[in-house]
Amino acid sequence: MNFSIIILAAGKGVRMRSDMPKVLHPLADKPLLSYVLDTARALAPQTMHLVYGHGGEQLREAISEPGLHWVEQSQRLGTGHAVMQAMPEVPETNNVLVLYGDVPLVSIDTLQALIQVPSGNLGLLTAFPDDPGGYGRIVRDVHGKILRIVEEKDADPEEKRIREINTGIVFAPAVKLRQWLAALKNDNAQGEYYLTDVIDIAVREKISVHTFTPGDIHETQGINDRMQLAVLERYYQAEQAQSLMRAGVTLRDPARLDIRGTVQTGMDVMLDVNVILEGQVSLGNGVRIGPNTLLRNSRVADGVEILANCVIEDTDIGPGCRIGPFARIRPGTILAEQVRVGNFVEIKKSNIAQGSKINHLSYIGDTEMGRDVNIGAGTITCNYDGANKHKTIIEDGVFVGSNTQLVAPVTLGEGATIGAGSTISRDAPPDKLTVTRGKLQTLRWKRPVKK
Ligand code: UD1
Ligand code: CA
Repeated sequence: MNFSIIILAAGKGVRMRSDMPKVLHPLADKPLLSYVLDTARALAPQTMHLVYGHGGEQLREAISEPGLHWVEQSQRLGTGHAVMQAMPEVPETNNVLVLYGDVPLVSIDTLQALIQVPSGNLGLLTAFPDDPGGYGRIVRDVHGKILRIVEEKDADPEEKRIREINTGIVFAPAVKLRQWLAALKNDNAQGEYYLTDVIDIAVREKISVHTFTPGDIHETQGINDRMQLAVLERYYQAEQAQSLMRAGVTLRDPARLDIRGTVQTGMDVMLDVNVILEGQVSLGNGVRIGPNTLLRNSRVADGVEILANCVIEDTDIGPGCRIGPFARIRPGTILAEQVRVGNFVEIKKSNIAQGSKINHLSYIGDTEMGRDVNIGAGTITCNYDGANKHKTIIEDGVFVGSNTQLVAPVTLGEGATIGAGSTISRDAPPDKLTVTRGKLQTLRWKRPVKK
């Protein structure tokens, strides 16, 4: 049967103490709401509706989801009222699955089970948290049959002792839901139209209510404040670390790895502590990454070794390269096979061909570098004249002596040698020694002494 998904996200999120709508706060660098949208989309509903309130502009800027129906709830009159706002656009014969924009980790499997309830029945996700305080409680009769949900604020002491809580996620036929929502009253402690009250009505209409409880409590964990966000972040990271280990990656400490994006790994990858992987990262077979390294949107080929404390973004690293320690590689860089990039080297938007070495204290920007080039310590490409960026071309087999400035645009011909300490502002011919250097003199001179 066809179904629609309604995502509730009109809450202010007061407890976040933030200018940003709560559902845009990131978990592993991705907005909470995007997790829910990704999961919802994976279920392939016929229509998808987002009920929003505060920060509508910020939401629309951050979230682009083709086909999503945006429904404004201008007054926050409760979860039942929120669902009602979306109902006019829900096809009459559909079932409706209600999700929360601030419950990011509910799994596709769990929801798939929920939406399998027999046609015309109601499905409800419940949970057993260590502390049920603050949640709606599931009230059952002596046979265990669900009767209704009572909100914490409306519960009597006995009801408050119930450990089973309402996660808020429900599944119901649209036709019925419409009638039930229309019948809601707000004569409760909060003066709100509670979605939870539809359970009581359904039970009285002899509709069966099927409850499901996911095995992992984190699936139904909602985010109300930054402490809960931090807890869920750690849980999520631990899950990702485990799936990497299952895929054959050695983690020196699974608790000290952060993945904020997607990672593909080959066999026998080893990650030392405090590695952060962001965006799309792929690590080939046998890749080893030392401690404290940030890698963002980069491809790392087989056998690469990245030593401690490197920052690498939008870079393609060829097989067998060795990088770092303390190297910074900026966007648009491509390193071919067996390149060496050493400590305190910055490379930006450059192509470095096979076997070239930039081992110490250098800046290489906007450069095309050939094979087997050797760049001496302290070499700088002066790529920026204050207005424009210019290219440096270094052909195969060039040797650049230490402490050299290459004033771009400039070309060093194949096999050229540049003497240490040079400032090269004209092209250097192939196979010759080019050097700019003051004459060395030793003078008769006495060092002054203090009076
Ligand atoms: C709700 C449930 C409670 C459940 C808990 C789970 C009701 C009456 N109570 O309580 O049984 O245990 O969630 O976390 O449903 N929202 C709107 N518009 C509104 C009100 C809420 O869009 O007018 C959205 C919020 O953004 C949020 C969700 O609905 O995503 C739940 O709202 P919240 O205020 O957190 O409900 P609780 O009081 O926690
Ligand atoms: Ca809540």
